[in-house]
Amino acid sequence: MGPDDGQFETIASLRRYLEELRESGVDGLPFSPPERAPGPDAAASSLPPGAAGSLSGADGAVAVAPAPTGAETLAEIRGDLGECRRCTLGAGRTTLVFGVGNPKARLLFVGEAPGREEDLRGEPFVGEAGQLLTRIIKAMGFAREEVYICNVLKCRPPGNRNPLPEEVEACSTFMLRQVRAIAPEAIVALGTFAAQALLGTKEPISKLRGVFHDYHGIPLMPTFHPAFLLRNPERKREVWEDMKQVMGRLGIATAPPKD
Ligand code: URA
Repeated sequence: MGPDDGQFETIASLRRYLEELRESGVDGLPFSPPERAPGPDAAASSLPPGAAGSLSGADGAVAVAPAPTGAETLAEIRGDLGECRRCTLGAGRTTLVFGVGNPKARLLFVGEAPGREEDLRGEPFVGEAGQLLTRIIKAMGFAREEVYICNVLKCRPPGNRNPLPEEVEACSTFMLRQVRAIAPEAIVALGTFAAQALLGTKEPISKLRGVFHDYHGIPLMPTFHPAFLLRNPERKREVWEDMKQVMGRLGIATAPPKD
């Protein structure tokens, strides 16, 4: 008995999806999805043996993976932010964009600041760049809901201008508290601004990407921002190389390239 219409349709849509991934620069797929049920002990139990304390940063420094404290929940941190007016961005925003995803995610993506659509919808990375980010996340073997996504700044700068140092300063403690509450095994910093703000450096993203750095004991991989990739699709391959390193850190195998 041959495949029926429904099966043909499934195969065709799978083929379209794979072709789309290949065009995005993805040259392999995970063998098996990561296993991690949200729960208080998940962060500790899913660390690969010997992973804690074994991080070597770009400068060769050794950092110790943080013990999940479980001290504070994301809901508590959000409550503390309230109708934030700690910097002037509070007055111009429509919605404070705190973050979305699994509160005990293994993997955290951090962008720069909400754009227009994000400000309106209250969710990070929902525009065109966000759709590309979702495809990258899926190619890594995760559903968007399984990871956590947020921005360094929680409010949209007017006209999407670059964030000011005092705005970063006002938000930075909340960023760190979010990271501590989630206790991810790895962080991906998306683009120049997020990488520079989190790492406290002025190094360009082209120098920062491709190697793990340390953010308060958590391995952080800087990579190009999806919005940059929309303008420079030929750089997607470098992002996929960075994401393969992240997958390796999480113990997710990738299929070898076909050619
Ligand atoms: N760019 C970002 O850095 N963050 C978003 O949420 C959307 C676009």
